[in-house]
Amino acid sequence: MNNINSIIFVCLGNICRSPIAEGVAKKYASENNLDIIIESAGTGDWHVGEAPCPDSVKIAKMNDVDISKQIARQVTKKDFTKYDLVIGLDSSNISNLKNLGCKSPIKLGDYGYDGADVPDPYFFEGFEGFDKVFEMIDICVRNLIKKEVEGK
Ligand code: 4NP
Repeated sequence: MNNINSIIFVCLGNICRSPIAEGVAKKYASENNLDIIIESAGTGDWHVGEAPCPDSVKIAKMNDVDISKQIARQVTKKDFTKYDLVIGLDSSNISNLKNLGCKSPIKLGDYGYDGADVPDPYFFEGFEGFDKVFEMIDICVRNLIKKEVEGK
């Protein structure tokens, strides 16, 4: 074990990508009896208080992950000391986090996609593309927890 006890996933709005990451991570942790705190947030405040976007809820449900009860919130400076790992979904999330004072955010795509950005599906036309977004997040989140939490 690596002494990582808490992880926060951060995207822009906290309604499309990071809720999926939170849902996948919580499911993996529960299935593997890992006692870790998992959260998500957005760097922006436009969607605070909202449920995840319907297409994210849909693709998650198709993969047996329930994210429907999550509520969007904005990241705070306190999160940077509270959480052992702060994980951004794309490069702009990483720069925004650094500008907000987070010293060492890590990009989710570093865990299995050569550091690629998880595409922002907010401006996708329809549902197409959400399957790829889910797949990237699912693979990287599992690899992240295996490596950083389980030390595998
Ligand atoms: P997310 O997607 O960062 O994956 O939650 C977005 C949600 C909202 C906006 C942009 C991206 N927005 O511009 O409001």
